[in-house]
Amino acid sequence: MAKLRLACIVGARPNLMKMAPLLRALGPYSDVEAVLIHTGQHYDKNLSDVFFEQLEMPRPDVTLEVGSGSHAVQTARVLERFEGVLVEADRQGRPFDRVIVVGDVNSTMAATLAAAKLNVPVAHVEAGLRSFDRTMPEEINRIVTDAIADLLLVSEPAGMENLRREGHPEEHLRLVGNVMIDTLKFMLPKARQCDTLAKMGLEPGKYGVVTLHRPSNVDAAETLRPILDVLVDVSESLPVVFPIHPRTQERIKRFGLAEKMDSAGGMIQTEPLGYLEFLALTSQAKVIVTDSGGLQEESTVLGIPCLTARPNTERPITVGQGTSTLVGNDAGKLRSCLASVLDGTYKQGTCPELWDGQAAERIARVLVEGS
Ligand code: UD1
Repeated sequence: MAKLRLACIVGARPNLMKMAPLLRALGPYSDVEAVLIHTGQHYDKNLSDVFFEQLEMPRPDVTLEVGSGSHAVQTARVLERFEGVLVEADRQGRPFDRVIVVGDVNSTMAATLAAAKLNVPVAHVEAGLRSFDRTMPEEINRIVTDAIADLLLVSEPAGMENLRREGHPEEHLRLVGNVMIDTLKFMLPKARQCDTLAKMGLEPGKYGVVTLHRPSNVDAAETLRPILDVLVDVSESLPVVFPIHPRTQERIKRFGLAEKMDSAGGMIQTEPLGYLEFLALTSQAKVIVTDSGGLQEESTVLGIPCLTARPNTERPITVGQGTSTLVGNDAGKLRSCLASVLDGTYKQGTCPELWDGQAAERIARVLVEGS
């Protein structure tokens, strides 16, 4: 009998920790052939290669090398190149039975569109999340992807509600839990063995971790400057580790903010870190300040207070469970929340159901056995 051929798409850093557990869960199914396709949206060693090594992922079978560009350019390149892969597979008499996409990056949407136009079914892992903020490029990617994928694998109950409201038939929906947490649980013991804290001169529970990369926070000096001012001030009493995304690094330089950052003694600036080093840091931090989607979820499971530098979130369960506070780009709110973490009055919430490390197994069963 012919194997079930799955084209598994990754493009940007957060896709890798979502796809890794799925590939692992599909491994034991001898009647499945999972072909890993990397669009090349992220190509830096720090944003891509390191993650393959640490997450014990197989190397991609196909790379599309789309690289950086405007949203339209990046999307168009993935569309064109991934369509080529699908057409070629067909020509060789080895068509894909299904495409699997994860998350909400440009590669997710573009691969979905290419597949749907060729009538190849698409499963979307992390479907249904909505920030209801269409100025956010990821929101457009989520809406388009879910509109044309036919198997919607959902991480939290709000995702099911959103998809029902949008009119998706019930047979397309499955609440499976959160694959990102599968990776976290799998990797945590290893991360705890890293000497990252010692190397940075940090003690468990006595430092903060910051990540910022959303255009809405970093692309305008008048937004970025006050946020950095608060972080620099806080770093005087609590060391702050700030692994800096290439986009943010460029803006800090362009806006003339580098000197202020460099002269803050407690501000530890680094390149983007590997998965294990970063998890070693986040899992033992006092507080996390971030605009990342994934980190809102990871901090929820780790039990570390997360101050989310966004006005809204597509992951409302983190707010509902009390594990994340939305501070927007309001420097005053960020400052007062940080103060309450430091004086011990900040209230931390609890972990949601189905964020148990078994989501990928549930997805594999749906994909292979249909249930
Ligand atoms: C992308 C995703 C975002 C995700 C983030 C994680 C979209 C719309 N955005 O944002 O949802 O949270 O990844 O990191 O898909 N660059 C490098 N090296 C690389 C890749 C990018 O230096 O390997 C620089 C380039 O200057 C590039 C910029 O980063 O123009 C932005 O990269 P891009 O992939 O367009 O978006 P991200 O901001 O990384």
